[in-house]
Amino acid sequence: MLTIKQKIAERLADGIRNMGVQEAPAVSSIAAMLEYPPDPAMGDLALPCFRLSKTLRRAPVQIAASLAGCLAGLDCVANAEAVNGYLNITVSNEYLTDRVLTDILEKGDRYGASTEGKGKTVVLDYSSPNVAKPFHIGHLGTTVIGHSLKKLHEFCGYDCVGINYLGDWGTQFGKLIVAYRKWGDRGMIEQGGIDKLVELYVRFHTEAETNKALEDEARAEFHKLEQGDADNTALWRWFVDISLAEYQKTYRQLGITFDSYKGESFYTDKMPAEVEKLRQKGLLQIDDGASIVDLSAYNMPPCLILKRDGSTLYPTRDIAAAVYRQNTYHFDKAVYVTSAGQSLHFAQWFKVVELMGYDWYDKLVHVPYGTVSIGGAKLATRTGNVVLLRDLFRAAVDEVRGIMKEKNTDAKDDESIAEAVGVGAIVFYYLSNSRIKDINFVMEDALNFDGNTGPYVQYTYARTCAVLRKCTGTGGGTFRVTAPEEATLIKTLARFPECVAAALRDYEPSVVTRYILDVATAFNRFYHNCQILCGEGDVTATRVAVTKATNTVLGNALPLICMKAMEKI
Ligand code: ARG
Repeated sequence: MLTIKQKIAERLADGIRNMGVQEAPAVSSIAAMLEYPPDPAMGDLALPCFRLSKTLRRAPVQIAASLAGCLAGLDCVANAEAVNGYLNITVSNEYLTDRVLTDILEKGDRYGASTEGKGKTVVLDYSSPNVAKPFHIGHLGTTVIGHSLKKLHEFCGYDCVGINYLGDWGTQFGKLIVAYRKWGDRGMIEQGGIDKLVELYVRFHTEAETNKALEDEARAEFHKLEQGDADNTALWRWFVDISLAEYQKTYRQLGITFDSYKGESFYTDKMPAEVEKLRQKGLLQIDDGASIVDLSAYNMPPCLILKRDGSTLYPTRDIAAAVYRQNTYHFDKAVYVTSAGQSLHFAQWFKVVELMGYDWYDKLVHVPYGTVSIGGAKLATRTGNVVLLRDLFRAAVDEVRGIMKEKNTDAKDDESIAEAVGVGAIVFYYLSNSRIKDINFVMEDALNFDGNTGPYVQYTYARTCAVLRKCTGTGGGTFRVTAPEEATLIKTLARFPECVAAALRDYEPSVVTRYILDVATAFNRFYHNCQILCGEGDVTATRVAVTKATNTVLGNALPLICMKAMEKI
């Protein structure tokens, strides 16, 4: 079923064509021009006609007037009025009940979805922490934006492969091996897990400040590891497993799973072929002993491929990994979610892939996001001085448990619900912002049950469930709008498909987050002002149906932003 916006845009496009214009704008660009006026007195949708004035060679006022006529008779339009160069459109209540509401109920868990990705594969590289370093709040972005994008793609029919490109290779393992042999033992790591690994790593750096020989030892151990030394390989494997076990706890709390954990180490033997290809294509230049690809023609610093000692670098591995993924998954799109600090890195190696002649270079997409600070303090990325995601989640869950007890909510004794609300609060708060914006994290704001927060929307979802539990057997009747709150709510629900499409197009989960808030607000207004079980057949039937539709939309939308929808809070 076409959305209201699409239907109106189609009709307007016809109208414009009938005005005798040669190059009438496409339906999609008219749809993009349609606005939701802030003041309902100006209608439900409005077309500002000023931009059209140039192509149509007519005054905006005139355009609005003639387009008003062409909407007459369209089933979803109750009224179209030309006002000062705007075409203000009011949607018909009958259309809302007879078409939109029934459509939502019929489609159920597919409402809002699309088939745009049918037959296409998307590979998403996200989260990807560096092993033996703590999983801190800086990783929240890549983890939850990445997973939301995966969910959005899946919802729109794409086959998705979620890849955790673990940072499981590099000189830090040499350091860890040295530190472990000097100051660690098996029992301590088995007990203390990743925290002990981090401690060893930090201690290595402290001691190396006065003992320069340590760095050389570390390099030698890493070299041995690269050569396949059995002892070092076993230690490395163990360190990776310990770290993974810790990450899994966080992923479990977020409801995230990956399809592949092939990390940087996996590409060690796949890089030489790409380096050779670069050489053959004449793309490699030697600069002070290092091998680089000159990108000055593209206004970028050179892309580093090999260090002076011949060892590979971050871009080298990314190139080899992309080639492997294309050969393995034949992706139609490969999405990389990292902090904006890595934007240049991605721009550089994407360009190198293009210069190498890989025809899929234009299927690589980098999705950057801004920094997070807590209570105003920007977070250091150096080991030791960071806010761990685990601790942040724990604090939120503790807080929520307290609030639930205080409010004496239905699920006050259910630990898994306290966890879902606490973790959800952080995720929701984070994903409320446009991803590229730097954000300052304020815990009290995230947890406010009465604010525009995760707990508030989860509570709203639970409220729809509670209403529906009470309303069994009240389904029959003819739907009709009898209160403005009902109409506003259905109109909000009608926007879900276009929100999903916009979030996907812009790689912007926050579009869904803000939309969920709109739904929650509209539902709560409806809930407070309209008695659902009012004893009148049609009115109750409509209100129950509207509640069911809200339940469907929230139930579909929340998982798209890594949130759990729970029947009770
Ligand atoms: N491990 C890297 C880091 O923590 C992120 C990896 C991102 N993905 C990639 N293909 N480069 O900074």
